[in-house]
Amino acid sequence: MDTNLARPQAIAVPQQDSFAGSLLNGLRKTSKEIACKYFYDDTGSRLFDAICELPEYYQTRTEMALLKRHAGEIAALMGENAEIVEFGAGSLRKVRILLDAAHNPRAYTPLDISGDYLRNVVRSLAADYPALTLRPLVGDFTLPLEIPALPGPARRAGFFPGSTIGNFKPDAAMAQLRRMRATLHGGGLLVGVDLVKDPVRLHAAYNDAAGVTALFNKNLLARANRELDADFDLDGFAHYAPYNAGAHRIEMYLVSLKRQSVGLCGQRFEFAQGEPVHTEDSHKYTIESFREMAARAGFNPRAVWTDQDRLFSVHWLESL
Ligand code: AVI
Repeated sequence: MDTNLARPQAIAVPQQDSFAGSLLNGLRKTSKEIACKYFYDDTGSRLFDAICELPEYYQTRTEMALLKRHAGEIAALMGENAEIVEFGAGSLRKVRILLDAAHNPRAYTPLDISGDYLRNVVRSLAADYPALTLRPLVGDFTLPLEIPALPGPARRAGFFPGSTIGNFKPDAAMAQLRRMRATLHGGGLLVGVDLVKDPVRLHAAYNDAAGVTALFNKNLLARANRELDADFDLDGFAHYAPYNAGAHRIEMYLVSLKRQSVGLCGQRFEFAQGEPVHTEDSHKYTIESFREMAARAGFNPRAVWTDQDRLFSVHWLESL
């Protein structure tokens, strides 16, 4: 087994910029913001797994059902000896569907920002797929990435499920598609994309009754308290996630419930009552608008699968 967690020097992966630096920059802006990639420390990754199980969060179960229903077609498109490269290794349940259907999969290369999370991923997959080469990479998939070629025949197939592409602004989403295309060296990309739909349904998915999404959002502040010795009062901020219908996106904020001052890395930050801190956008696409964007990023959009309620879509894009 080839795990880069065991031998971290084996593959050079671009380093993420630091949480501290990014947070300080974001909170100094006139419109305060925290980059959404910092949701995913170990606690945040677990909270996100809990979100995926919520009754309101239709995305995960709909995508899983699509992957299961079309696994045979997907495996045929990926071809023999695929090296499945997953950008942001989230739920292993999804990649297992692909690995079970794939024709002699050569390797699985998950790339994730959370080393602790990846460690668990690898442990559980290694036991069930003893013959598979595992190449977990701790790193930031929003940076250019060159993965060394495997010896022998292998064709890369990218996997970017969960509509993570929706967390990029449209220009950045196109740049991300281009970066993934470069990493894949001519291989195709399987990507899950959440669709434009009834705003009430979208709103419910990000404002669940159990409050898990609120905890996920506030984990950014809890993480700053844990890692950076900040003194955010978690009850002093509210989770706020409206749907912006004009921009086809859920916007997520932490809103200061009072005038307050917070210490962080030896500096103080002032928050007015009602002041929002932007934490995430989750863009929704139509099938057509996503295929157009993929084409502009240099892909040939081939197959697309959707459920009968048109909640979610899975696209197979080929590199041009
Ligand atoms: C990871 N990403 C696609 C999720 C989404 O739906 O935008 C993150 C999330 N934020 C709140 N709930 C889920």
